[in-house]
Amino acid sequence: MPNPPVGCVIVQGDEAVGLGFHPRAGEPHAEVFALRGAGARARGATAYVTLEPCHHHGRTPPCTEALITSGVRRVVVAALDPNPAVAGRGVQALRDAGINVAVGVLETQATRQQAGFRSLIVRGRPWVVAKYAMTLDGKVAAPDEGNGQVSGEVARARAMTWRNELDAVAVGSGTLHSDDPALTTRGLSGGRDARAVVFDRRARSSLQAHAWRPGSVLVTAPDANTSAFEAAGVTVVQTATLLDALTGLGRLDISSLLLEGGPGLLSAFLDAGLVDEVRVFIAPKLLGLGLSPLTSPARRMHEAQELRDVTVETLGPDVLVTGLLSDIPCL
Ligand SMILES: NC(=O)c1ccc[n+]([C@@H]2O[C@H](COP(=O)([O-])OP(=O)(O)OC[C@H]3O[C@@H](n4cnc5c(N)ncnc54)[C@H](OP(=O)(O)O)[C@@H]3O)[C@@H](O)[C@H]2O)c1
Repeated sequence: MPNPPVGCVIVQGDEAVGLGFHPRAGEPHAEVFALRGAGARARGATAYVTLEPCHHHGRTPPCTEALITSGVRRVVVAALDPNPAVAGRGVQALRDAGINVAVGVLETQATRQQAGFRSLIVRGRPWVVAKYAMTLDGKVAAPDEGNGQVSGEVARARAMTWRNELDAVAVGSGTLHSDDPALTTRGLSGGRDARAVVFDRRARSSLQAHAWRPGSVLVTAPDANTSAFEAAGVTVVQTATLLDALTGLGRLDISSLLLEGGPGLLSAFLDAGLVDEVRVFIAPKLLGLGLSPLTSPARRMHEAQELRDVTVETLGPDVLVTGLLSDIPCL
């Protein structure tokens, strides 16, 4: 069972008396940390929680029990649990105990935070975020140049935080060969390094590349010879289609995938309809001849894929545009 990102705040009067978040699988849930912080001040308070409190004995006891015992008077839940075995039961248990429960407050924001968790539960595959950086004239790299930086320091630092937040970060064999990226959270204090995933249908990438480390995954064709990778401790997923590849990554408990390019792999995902979210940095530079971010066949303008819930942010000299291509998976 994947682990959702959940936060909880206990409010007594107008004071936040307890705060908690769920740090990782097997550790107490957000509600438990928040209630511990609040202590006796939880009695009569309101608990705000981003995901419906659990009502089953998993790796930890049910949070509904902890909330009921604490004496909170009201619980505000942003979103119901997408797991059909759980959905609604936590809320019902709280109501049965006489607690006033509100559901759906800031639901859009909460479900966006939980996109990976929801994707894995509902679709059995990770939420896919396509990320790239391009110049003002739409180029992601100069011809025959590996590692030329498109965006500035602030933008690159932001991208590092995504590698920390998402479960895995992927590149195609072309980028592995030309840039040899380490795909780590380099220099981010407390960074936890997402799993590195390399898409290489022929399994011909050099094992000396920096992306290979314990936990790295090679996604390759069913008939590729993967013995050297397996001997080096790389996890191998062999599939004929990108959809099956994502299902294979889902089986490894990867709930969110940051697709960092390059153009060949990004285009294949986009053409297969498997990109859920797009995050693009635009640098105020003009390059001239170079690589376009996408190699997809030309479309008519009215056939262009339009992003929803678009955000635009300035990061140093660069602009970050984000948006969704899929709905956040729900029940
Ligand atoms: N500015 C940016 O944000 C950014 C980011 C990344 C890369 N880049 C640049 O992009 C350039 C590399 O571009 P690229 O297109 O060669 O690299 P790529 O997209 O990383 O790799 C393309 C290769 O991925 C492999 N692949 C594996 N599964 C695939 C699938 N299902 N469909 C399609 N391809 C699949 C293919 O090789 P096989 O057929 O052998 O499997 C294909 O040749 C470099 O210059 C790099 O610096 C820029």
